[in-house]
Amino acid sequence: MNKKLMVGNWKMNGSLAANESLIKALLAGLSAPACQVALCVPAVYLAQCQALLADSVIELGAQDVSEHETGAFTGEISAAMLREFGLRYVLVGHSERRQYHSESDAVVAAKAQRALACGMTPIVCVGETSAEREAGQTEEVVKRQLAAVIHANGHCISEMVLAYEPIWAIGTGKTASPEQAQQVHALLRAQLEAASKQADRVHILYGGSMNAANAAQLLAQPDIDGGLVGGASLKALDFLSMMASVR
Ligand code: 13P
Repeated sequence: MNKKLMVGNWKMNGSLAANESLIKALLAGLSAPACQVALCVPAVYLAQCQALLADSVIELGAQDVSEHETGAFTGEISAAMLREFGLRYVLVGHSERRQYHSESDAVVAAKAQRALACGMTPIVCVGETSAEREAGQTEEVVKRQLAAVIHANGHCISEMVLAYEPIWAIGTGKTASPEQAQQVHALLRAQLEAASKQADRVHILYGGSMNAANAAQLLAQPDIDGGLVGGASLKALDFLSMMASVR
């Protein structure tokens, strides 16, 4: 496994002025990070962020990509378009896309395929709702979500990043305990290993109310290879402190 990977997902936050001061503060505080770092920013800010991050240790990512290659899909952004902005990563299947935009497992798998075909690393998000966890369905749900992506991308899955984001922990302040997260990460790792000999190359990130106070404990788990951070990635000092807790 390479260094751990810390990804900030800005979601629909930011402005030209706020982005500039956040990125400048992050770069000032990050000379030789012990981890890999990326920011997934709103698409309209890709050009601005590409310029601000040029030749830096922080990689750029987007938050979504179309499952189509090109054509009459108003409002959509293709993988080839994203790639023109020097992106390394793109989130696919974030629970907010699955929930508010009815993205199915098959659509998420197709998005991952588009990203890979254009030379970007999809960060595939999986996770259960609180009702599913309470009904004892966590394993079944995350395995089904990952299976669709493996089915469509078999030989390329070692090129992906996987993120386990329990929906009940996103933006709620309720973090999965390190043991709860580790348990799910271990079964996702086993599923990847059954599908690819190179599964040990896949970073499995945890996301869901990760913050400066709980990051070190989560990141100390054997199968947690980094974090996908929402709210706390918008505060430079918090995100820097989380990156500093990576061993
Ligand atoms: P929060 O860190 O704000 O809970 O968001 C997690 C997330 O959804 C990252 O993609």
